Amino acid sequence: MRAGRFSSALLSLLIVASACAVAQDEPAVIPNPAKIARAAGEFALGRATTIVAVGGDAEARGAAATLAEFFRKTRGLRLAVAAGEARDGEINLRRDASSASGAEGYRLEVTPRRIEVTAATRAGLFYGGITLWQLIAFSQPREAMTIPALSIDDAPRFAWRGLLLDSARHYQSPQFILKFLDAMAAHKLNVLHWHLTDDQAWRLEIRKYPRLTSVGAWRVPAGAGGRDIDPATGRPRLYGGYYSQETVRGIVAYAAARAITVVPEIEMPGHASAAIAAYPQLAAIAAPATRVPADWGIYDNVYSLEDSTFAFLEDVLAETIALFPGAYIHIGGDEVVKAQWLQSARSRALMRSLASDDPERLQTYFTQRIGRYLESRGRRAVGWDEVLAPGLPRSAVVMSWRGIDGGVAAAQAGHDVVMTPTSNTYFDYYQSQDTAREPLAIGGFLPLDTVYAYEPIPPALDSLQARHVLGTQGQIWTEYQRTPRNVEYMVFPRLVALSEVAWTPREQKDFADFRGRLAKHLARLAVIDVNYRRLTP
Ligand code: ACM
Repeated sequence: MRAGRFSSALLSLLIVASACAVAQDEPAVIPNPAKIARAAGEFALGRATTIVAVGGDAEARGAAATLAEFFRKTRGLRLAVAAGEARDGEINLRRDASSASGAEGYRLEVTPRRIEVTAATRAGLFYGGITLWQLIAFSQPREAMTIPALSIDDAPRFAWRGLLLDSARHYQSPQFILKFLDAMAAHKLNVLHWHLTDDQAWRLEIRKYPRLTSVGAWRVPAGAGGRDIDPATGRPRLYGGYYSQETVRGIVAYAAARAITVVPEIEMPGHASAAIAAYPQLAAIAAPATRVPADWGIYDNVYSLEDSTFAFLEDVLAETIALFPGAYIHIGGDEVVKAQWLQSARSRALMRSLASDDPERLQTYFTQRIGRYLESRGRRAVGWDEVLAPGLPRSAVVMSWRGIDGGVAAAQAGHDVVMTPTSNTYFDYYQSQDTAREPLAIGGFLPLDTVYAYEPIPPALDSLQARHVLGTQGQIWTEYQRTPRNVEYMVFPRLVALSEVAWTPREQKDFADFRGRLAKHLARLAVIDVNYRRLTP
């Protein structure tokens, strides 16, 4: 059919259809920004578009460089980076210390003439750039990309927007972790809680204690029904791996460039079997089990309460502190079996000297000592809710995982808390009740809408206590997630929903609206090579 034969009726039909196409391209930003207003027209992004760090500001230059790398890696867009005056036709990043957008907020203004991102901090500029990245429709050819004219004023609801990655039960490669950090950054998440030690492995190189990784990072069999068989001999191979200090520095720097703080978790005083396999003298009893276990569950091995063990732990924490510049060090504290302390005459004597016959008092003693050490080094301890007891250092942060009561009690006692209840944030649970069609998981059932519905401020808190809720995070425990593809499958898209829980104003949350945006957002997950679970009707 030739154009000349279009009837005017057909023409007006086409105009309506193209208007619908525009409507379909409504910005589907996730997490939903606090304020968004559409305007007329669009900005054309081309091969020659430059990201300008206005005024040559160092923080703006840093954000510009990371964004250019992100656009190149994920969209094949090679944007030049420059410093100087704001210019028409370009993406201008302007740091303005007086900006009202707060520590992580930003203002994004797209006009047909130019793009301006304004923020008080590098993190805010980066987030403005991430929103921009989401605004490029994925259906557009690389030569003709446009961004709809609009203005966005945005800032997160919570300061702690995280994910726990369990690298102990199964080791993930550093390359995977870098890619995972990109996926977190694409959702404006800012904490990677990195679970580095457990019964089944010790993954962090500690120079003073090389056996932690030469012994503690390896096991046979692999776990979760797997063995690594050496094809040459037919026999099982050692399974595991660890992160050298150099690798860790690289990961921490890569995260920092994306406004993500890495919070390392060194589990104590329980979940200590791998460390005790490496150094049996750390145990509370004379003859502990000294194999790195490959099965899941909660083990009896627990650190002793001797000064020599505290000296070891302080050495480990000193090297950890040197690697992780963030304010927080996670010290575990969950699921501590007290049987070995009760078997030990010296631990029982310590308990009596503390005027107690309750072994819980020994955990409090332990946490206080480690907490005081971290305070003396200018860091804040984070612990699972079992650490909450009178005498917990005020600076300690409590993670409420066994429901929300621990978080409520901790906030009422004046502690900061991170809300991580199994009911809404455990991504090791199944995403469907049709478990036969899902990859093997630990059990449970946590569908997308239950994650989305989560409200991190418990109703029992008054407005002053509620200020202690730093935020929330998802957890991907990896007992049953042996491969990186499975880790991604369990995390996505549930983490996408949680990003909106943590970022978007409460009154703006709407699951149906989110799901509509998510359907479009899946194309973005695809370009960052994330193996997400398909949406079900
Ligand atoms: C935990 O899930 N044991 C914190």
